[in-house]
Amino acid sequence: MSDVIDWAVLRATAREACATAYAPYSGYPVGAAALVDDGRVVSGCNVENAGYGVTLCAECGLVSDLVRGGGGRLLAFTCCNGEGDVIMPCGRCRQLLWEHGGADLLVETPEGVLSMTEVLPQAFGPEALGK
Ligand code: THU
Repeated sequence: MSDVIDWAVLRATAREACATAYAPYSGYPVGAAALVDDGRVVSGCNVENAGYGVTLCAECGLVSDLVRGGGGRLLAFTCCNGEGDVIMPCGRCRQLLWEHGGADLLVETPEGVLSMTEVLPQAFGPEALGK
């Protein structure tokens, strides 16, 4: 499957999403993009809030895009900052990604492409709940 992943397209989509971010408080826009198992590309940007803790990470928007578009499994994921540099998804967002991609999801990191098991070892997931 990794041979069909066009990382350049995912990076470009993440950068487009980043340009739409609403980040007036941190001044740190983030864009995220992912390939879905049906070929779709989903994306999201961070959306901050005056109640800082209410902020939505870019990955939240991406997961919403995924589910609203019919669901599916995430195969490959990347996210970037306003400089266009690849960044790591925060801990909470790794958990979000695990739910919709699991162990097989590939994540682009500043150190190259890694599997979700490498970026979120011993993840808590649906099987722990018998799902
Ligand atoms: N942020 C994301 O959107 N995703 C991440 O994985 C890391 C952090 C956002 C949240 C906040 O709006 C800004 O980056 C600074 O933390």
